[in-house]
Amino acid sequence: MTRLTTTACVFAVCALAASSDAAAATSRIYNGTTWHATDGSTINAHAAGIYYEDGYYYWFGENRDGMRSNGVSVYRSTDLLNWDSLGLALTPEGERKNTLQDVAPGRTLERPKVIKNPTTGKYVMWAHWEDGEDYSKARVMVAQADKPEGPYTLVRTLRPNGQESRDQTIFRDDDNKAYHIRSSEENMTLQCSLLSDDYLAPTDTYERIIPGKQYEAPAILKINETYIGFFSGCTGWRPNPGHVCTTRDIMSNNWNDLGNPCVDDNASTTYTSQPTYALKLAGYDYAYMYLGDRWNSSNVQTSTYVWLPIFLRTGTPFLRYYESWDLSIFDTLDAIRRAAAIEDGNTYVLLSRLADRMVSLSAGKVCLYDDNDSKNLSFVFEATGEPDTYKLRRADTDSYLRASGSSVVLEDGADLETQKWVFERSSDNFYSIVSKATGKVLSVKDASMASGAEIELIEKTTAAKARFGVYFDHRKFDYEEDNPFGAPVVPAAVENVTPDAGRITLTIAPGAVTVSGVANVAKVMVYDVAGRCVAQRSLLCGGAAATMMLNNLNAGIYIVTVSDDNSSASIKIAL
Ligand code: DGJ
Repeated sequence: MTRLTTTACVFAVCALAASSDAAAATSRIYNGTTWHATDGSTINAHAAGIYYEDGYYYWFGENRDGMRSNGVSVYRSTDLLNWDSLGLALTPEGERKNTLQDVAPGRTLERPKVIKNPTTGKYVMWAHWEDGEDYSKARVMVAQADKPEGPYTLVRTLRPNGQESRDQTIFRDDDNKAYHIRSSEENMTLQCSLLSDDYLAPTDTYERIIPGKQYEAPAILKINETYIGFFSGCTGWRPNPGHVCTTRDIMSNNWNDLGNPCVDDNASTTYTSQPTYALKLAGYDYAYMYLGDRWNSSNVQTSTYVWLPIFLRTGTPFLRYYESWDLSIFDTLDAIRRAAAIEDGNTYVLLSRLADRMVSLSAGKVCLYDDNDSKNLSFVFEATGEPDTYKLRRADTDSYLRASGSSVVLEDGADLETQKWVFERSSDNFYSIVSKATGKVLSVKDASMASGAEIELIEKTTAAKARFGVYFDHRKFDYEEDNPFGAPVVPAAVENVTPDAGRITLTIAPGAVTVSGVANVAKVMVYDVAGRCVAQRSLLCGGAAATMMLNNLNAGIYIVTVSDDNSSASIKIAL
């Protein structure tokens, strides 16, 4: 393979890496720049999907000639940085047919995704198919191949379950069931179909999973039992604020909407990108990458790529922006795990619930900071003998975290009351960290999510800015872990929540919930979008479905919080 020469590199603003040596391997991801394959050609693989097998990542994407669609490209890499071009996985061929059963030159193919079928041994590709005139056909194309890189041959084009399908992806689950997720109903509603055993067609089972929100660009991952979806809004090629939603049931029609996952400048455009894929990295327990496109709407071919690490440690997915980065960040992302409980003498870091950033020391100030071994603070927790109360000694030093007015400082010193911190745990396993001396809580100034945001002491609040998790480096310490995705999204006892014209039906297992010591009772609160509580009930649920009537409520979006003494969860519903 020919690499870029130094001169070519200067003019082309270089590939994934800013290599100045034709033979040097690349080592960083440079977002929003033109990327080159190992042979020096420009990578032309938009709206990517990645398939991993036997040490190789296969990158499939739209091959574009200007705006025109030109089949599906495939590249292969062992490290996600240096990509060999393998040409076209699917080549436009044949004549246009009135039946629309063709991939003739000029047809539009978008957002190609590939999975392997374990029974047939075939590689199956699904892509958005249009006739090349406009976006009105709203179909998918299904193709298959004997090798991951292709060549893929057309099986059929179709409208899954008779429904429109534009932006789309496929997801293969742990049990080898596969799903097609698409924007449908004039892009107003995301739908999901269970695929046939050979993955070549939808079954009759499908659901309107995110109705009425006008989301597109789906990218799905799964951690333990939780599915996480990244989506964009629907503004053509122009970027918009992203959305991240979670569920325990991919076919559920009430995914939790957690809002925009971006926390840095330019969050309102998802860092000028639109999602296309969420990739699990091989060789780690918890390393996931966001893949997006920075579109050039007047020449899609020259659109660039935005790939970012996904921060998942708090249980809420976050995306931070890096102009350039290397994959070593996944070592800490995978290493820092939440502690199941605080133990005297253990060494922990404090992670902000707000933005998955660690309490650190930078420029003499206690603040939040990105993962950085020289800035992030590790504390040895020393029990004081009082309930849940600890002194936090900076590891390998004699200095303690101390309350000083509204500031938090690190100071050597005697056994002061201002060095004592009470850890008040909430049901979501985050803590309010309360100064024993003043009763004030640790909080992030101005609720800033930025690296460098100062830590201060304020009057007690349960706002996210004043909530921290106790985490540890599992490469160094063998403490018991508590996985943020291990906990159910709704209390374990709540098996089903179904909104239906003016009423909510809860199905709760007998004896499974307890409120104030009374078994089989769940507390249900209903809030409108302005945060006003519009209904609340204590529901007796002895195993049969318990129904909560919501009279006199206008149609609209409501947040239903279901809780018992041990846990609480919120679900967004539309009535
Ligand atoms: C937004 C979609 O996400 C893209 O894949 C593409 O279909 C454009 N719309 C076309 O306007």
